[in-house]
Formats: sequence, C-alpha cells, structure tokens
Amino acid sequence: MSDAVLSQFKQETIEEKKTSDRKLKIGIIGCGGISGAHMNAYKMQPDVEIVAACDLVPGRAQAKLESKELYGVRCYANHKEMIDNEPELDAVSVCTYNTQHAGPTIYALEHGLPVLLEKPFTVTLEEAIEVMRTEKRTGKFVSVGFQPRFDANMQMIKKIVESGTLGEIYYIQTGGGRRRGIPGGSFIMKETGGIGALADIGCYSLDMVLNAIGYPKPLTVTGYTSDFFGKRPEMYWYDPTEAERFGVDDFAAAFIRLEGGTILDFRISWAMHADTPGDTIIFGKEGALRIPSTDCWNGSVGGEMTLYHDVCGKQTETKIPLLPSCDLWYEKIRRFLDAVISGGEAPVPTSQILYNQAILDGIVKSAELGREIKIEIPEI
Ligand SMILES: NC(=O)c1ccc[n+]([C@@H]2O[C@H](COP(=O)([O-])OP(=O)(O)OC[C@H]3O[C@@H](n4cnc5c(N)ncnc54)[C@H](O)[C@@H]3O)[C@@H](O)[C@H]2O)c1
Repeated sequence: MSDAVLSQFKQETIEEKKTSDRKLKIGIIGCGGISGAHMNAYKMQPDVEIVAACDLVPGRAQAKLESKELYGVRCYANHKEMIDNEPELDAVSVCTYNTQHAGPTIYALEHGLPVLLEKPFTVTLEEAIEVMRTEKRTGKFVSVGFQPRFDANMQMIKKIVESGTLGEIYYIQTGGGRRRGIPGGSFIMKETGGIGALADIGCYSLDMVLNAIGYPKPLTVTGYTSDFFGKRPEMYWYDPTEAERFGVDDFAAAFIRLEGGTILDFRISWAMHADTPGDTIIFGKEGALRIPSTDCWNGSVGGEMTLYHDVCGKQTETKIPLLPSCDLWYEKIRRFLDAVISGGEAPVPTSQILYNQAILDGIVKSAELGREIKIEIPEI
C-alpha cells in the first residue's frame, strides 16, 4: 500500500551540465565563517579558480585562504577594492554579514558580475528591491544561498504538494529552532546581523514551505519578536561578554495571509524553554504532511515525514522514508556555476526570495507597530 502511494513521487533526475572550457575566475567577498564552505565547494569544481578575496578585517582573507590551502590568491580590503582591481572576474560569492549583503551585491552586479549571495537575501525589503532593480538594469543575476533546496527530502515536500495528494493547501504551520543556541559574533549585533533568529534560521523554514507551494505573494502579517534570552551572559559559555553586544531578536512569531487564501503560522527560536516550537505541518483539503522540526533547517528535514490521508474512507498514515542527501554545498556552487556558464536562470532566483524577504520585513515592522500590517511590495 505505502509503495503504491510513494511511487507517485518520483525522484528528480539531475541533468548533467557541461563544465566550462576555461577556468572561471571567482572572487570571495567576506572571509568569515561561511566563506570556508564556499571555498571548499569551489575547490571541488574542475573549471574554477578562486583568484581574489577580500575582508574588512586586515589579514582575515589571507588567513582563511591559507586554512583552505588556497595560495597565490590576491587579497583586498573590501569589495570595491577587489572588484575595481579584478576586471577578469567571472562571478563572486558574497559571504558578508547580513547588513552588508545589499551593498556588495549591487556593486558586483553593476560591474557585470553574477552573484551567489548568502542567505538571508537582505535585511530590509527596500534593500531587496534595490538589488532586484539592479539585476534588471544590468541583466546579471543573483542566486540566494539556500542549499537545502538541493536536498532530496526537501524536494520531496514540493513533489508531494505538486502531486495533488494533499489537495488545496489552506494552512501551514512552520518554523522551528532550538532550546539553547544563540550563535554570537556578527549574528547578534544590530549593525551586522540586522535581524536575529528571524533572519538567520527563519528564512530557511519559510523557504521550505513557500517553495513547496509555489511562492504565493504575502498579503498581510501580524508579527511578534522578543529578546528575552540574548542579553543573558549565561547563554554564551565561551564568552559571556557577547551578551552586551546582543541587539536583535532571539524569537519571532507571525500569522501571515498569502494570496490564494493559504494561512502561514510561523515561529522561530534561537532560545526558549522547550525543545521545539513544533513540527512543520502542511494542511490540505485531501491530506496533510508532517515534517519533523530541526534546530536550524540549513540542511535536511528533522526525520521521517508523515503523510495523513484517507484511503477508501479509512484514515491512513504513510511514512515517507528519508532519502539519502547529496553534498548540498557542492550542488549549491555547481548550480550557480552552471547558470553563470549558460547565462540561464539563477538556481534560487530573487523573484521568489523577494516574498520571503517581504515576510521577514513585515514581521519586523508589524512587531514594532504592535498590529497587523499590509505587505506592500513596490514594482521592480
Ligand atoms: N548557508 C548557510 O548554511 C550559512 C551558514 C552560516 C552563515 N550564513 C550566512 O553567511 C553570512 C556570513 O556569515 P558568517 O558566519 O561567515 O559571518 P562572519 O561575521 O564570520 O563573516 C562575515 C565577514 O564579512 C566581512 N565583511 C563584511 N562586509 C564586507 C565588505 N563590504 N567587504 C569585505 N568583507 C566584508 C566581515 O569582516 C566578516 O569577516 C551571513 O549572512 C549568514 O547568514 C549562511
């Protein structure tokens, strides 16, 4: 029985793309924590060389490159200096903290470079609009760094929704997070992170469900944010002074109305007095899908998913076995390079993530005002 149900959701076959005949020249903007994952994945590609990198902190770019055994790469003090001095670049990865996503991305696009931009897209909706207007003007693209898009289990969620097994989707509960897990560093400061748990891990769970249902436009939002944990020194065992720098949210919740009538009920946490704010559940008129929660959502789902549906009038539960994942970082970089070579569409286009950003932005604004707001998205 369960085989018959599962056979509807066929595995996607990944089309083999041609690598470039010449080595693509890549620059890395921002050489902190996550740049290492970009460097590792670029190193795996036969048709790439990292030729330049930059960081605002003197010596950081050089040290990061050397830790990855990348030698002879030219290092610069910031994105402008790097791009101005490297006219042969083919593309860049933007690995800066959130408040420095829009500026370097716009500068790169204006200099003819496609951009692989780390998540979240930006901090504000206005910044996202500016980036998209620059894409339109320059004809160059931005792909946003949601590597879970390439996970087979995440893809299964979309396939189940698209198969019609759930029927029309009317309500989604999503979010997740952890009991204790405030990251520290640039993530917790207003000047660098901009927004906290909401941006850091909230954007992933929103992408999981919005991508599954075809990214409908958000219409209204009632948002709430709080910071009851981030200012407590005991949250940072490695350096209690981090608490003094905390200036963002560590928990957020929202009720969002989407075009077409679907309701999105969302909550996300870096710290709380519970193990999880709940699994993700997609409710359709003909079935529902439960997706076990995770700490972060930056990889795969939290466990075997359950499909609830009626078969010949009987309430039935079908377990969706976990599928083996791939190297998500390899795929994220490869798909970006494929689009650079072909001049094709971004693997994770801003036209979709705009709505993710509009929700994050709407939650912040609604929380500040203490009431529901209409989400207004300007023309690009
Ligand atoms: N996809 C994922 O799984 C994942 C995981 C972690 C972080 N991230 C994202 O990656 C981004 C960076 O995170 P991180 O942990 O590496 O932060 P980080 O603070 O360790 O590193 C960011 C670096 O960017 C540099 N920088 C900022 N503006 C710059 C500019 N204009 N030019 C040159 N350098 C500049 C900073 O000096 C810093 O060294 C964040 O937006 C985060 O959300 C994604």
